[in-house]
Amino acid sequence: MHKLTDKASWKSLVNHYRSLENISLRELFSEDPDRGKKLIIRATDIYFDYSKQRVTDETIKLLINLAREQGLKERMEAMFAGDRINTTENRSVLHTALRMPEGKELLVDGINVTEEVHRVLASMTTFCDRIRTGEWKGFSGKPVRNIVNIGIGGSDLGPVMAYEALKYYTSGDMTFRFVSNIDGSDLVEALRGLNPDETLFIISSKTFTTLETLTNAKSARRWFLKNGGSKADVAKHFVAVSTNREKVIEFGIDPENMFGFWDWVGGRYSMDSAIGLSTMLAVGPEAFREMLRGFREMDEHFLNTPFEQNIPVIMGLLAVWNTNFLNLRTQAILPYDNYLKRFPAYLQQLTMESNGKSVTLEGHRVDYHTGPVYWGEPGTNGQHSFYQLIHQGTMIIPCDFIGFISPLNDLEPHHDYLMANMIAQGEALAFGKTRKEAEEAGIESRLLPHKVFEGNRPSSTFLLEKLTPHTLGKLVAMYEHTVFTQGVLWGINSFDQMGVELGKVLAEKIISELEDQGNVMGHDSSTNELIKIISRPVTP
Ligand code: F6P
Repeated sequence: MHKLTDKASWKSLVNHYRSLENISLRELFSEDPDRGKKLIIRATDIYFDYSKQRVTDETIKLLINLAREQGLKERMEAMFAGDRINTTENRSVLHTALRMPEGKELLVDGINVTEEVHRVLASMTTFCDRIRTGEWKGFSGKPVRNIVNIGIGGSDLGPVMAYEALKYYTSGDMTFRFVSNIDGSDLVEALRGLNPDETLFIISSKTFTTLETLTNAKSARRWFLKNGGSKADVAKHFVAVSTNREKVIEFGIDPENMFGFWDWVGGRYSMDSAIGLSTMLAVGPEAFREMLRGFREMDEHFLNTPFEQNIPVIMGLLAVWNTNFLNLRTQAILPYDNYLKRFPAYLQQLTMESNGKSVTLEGHRVDYHTGPVYWGEPGTNGQHSFYQLIHQGTMIIPCDFIGFISPLNDLEPHHDYLMANMIAQGEALAFGKTRKEAEEAGIESRLLPHKVFEGNRPSSTFLLEKLTPHTLGKLVAMYEHTVFTQGVLWGINSFDQMGVELGKVLAEKIISELEDQGNVMGHDSSTNELIKIISRPVTP
């Protein structure tokens, strides 16, 4: 099999780039004044405008050829069918099964996974109803008022992002806190002011072996026992979300209070599994199911729409174009909705843990770049922080602008100001301001170089009607499938995360050395010194 960079479709793209590299977005728009009406996709109630990307119809055609040559359609079908496409871990990749409608059969190893999914959804629903109605009582007979989710990575970022994103839909009579960091301050601050008899801990961990989560969970249990709870009360105040029943029991949580999921759900793809228990508690089972329907709508669009009109596919192709041909190495995510403030952080794990790989599925070192750095902040806050670099820095950063036509809180004149700012950023990035325009605007000559905006900086804009559980599901699935598309084009495994292992193993060794008062066991001289300085002297 040919290497990616030896393939005919890749080589055509290299040649095509040469013909396009000196053509600006200004020129492209003046050559075709209707470009902004053509390089768009309107599907699943999302308006996706990629006309401000540095592409032409020909670029898209050639990228689609590359996708075909890389077998994108076959890989999509293999994923949805439950084939073991996560080859290094020999697992199916079936987050799409988490939102399949009840009654639709999908067999994996002879088990109907849809039935399993709906069994867990039903038990989550019963549990959430009991908590939300106050039927479930804490040890003093009072209902639960505080939910503390303890988890990290995919067992935290999805839940906290969804809680923030859907806060508008919560009743506000329960508090939700999220603890992830091994830094004790995270837990201490989360517990501040909480009464243990009104607090429910959700210990969320796919493996139930993660150092951070288990350490926080044990400290939470100690806090609970120290502040009035008894061992017998733990069952009323600690529940688990995990795939590892044995470890949950070993920790002391009643398996009756465990909500399961499966090894075919990757941590960063799990916010719509039982890992979303806190989301369901916050917005209620019906809104959670509405979110699942949003995910499903995007799944169907991705699976069934020709590539030319397929939003996640085109986004993925643009990411490859920007990364490998324009040599742009980061991607800013800029939601113009304050409820989406944790969305960039959520996408960091989804994108970078998935596509931060440098060997192909066959284990060969790649000779092209893979996953870009994803990062961002909500608008307009980012404008008063890092947008200077986006507009005039030497590094070109493709941007995704995400906006909603109708605000959730219609406070005149905020929404118009917010949307005007978002639209203006894309316009300024694409078209900039020439020296001549600056002169005509009366800028004094000494300041002219500082007031010129080069423009030609690519961005995409996404417009949705309103932020709802349904649209949130669609947005998340849209990025999941974009990540998949990128991974297929790069020929990498987007579903393992072996790169996080080495640091974990070394940390375990250093932990035992710190506990042994700095009895350092042969690291390099820098690491040895750092360990010695950190380890506390023995107190007499
Ligand atoms: O950081 C590695 C990782 O395995 C992530 O992929 C995962 O989301 C996170 O740790 C937490 O894992 P777990 O849910 O098993 O505690």
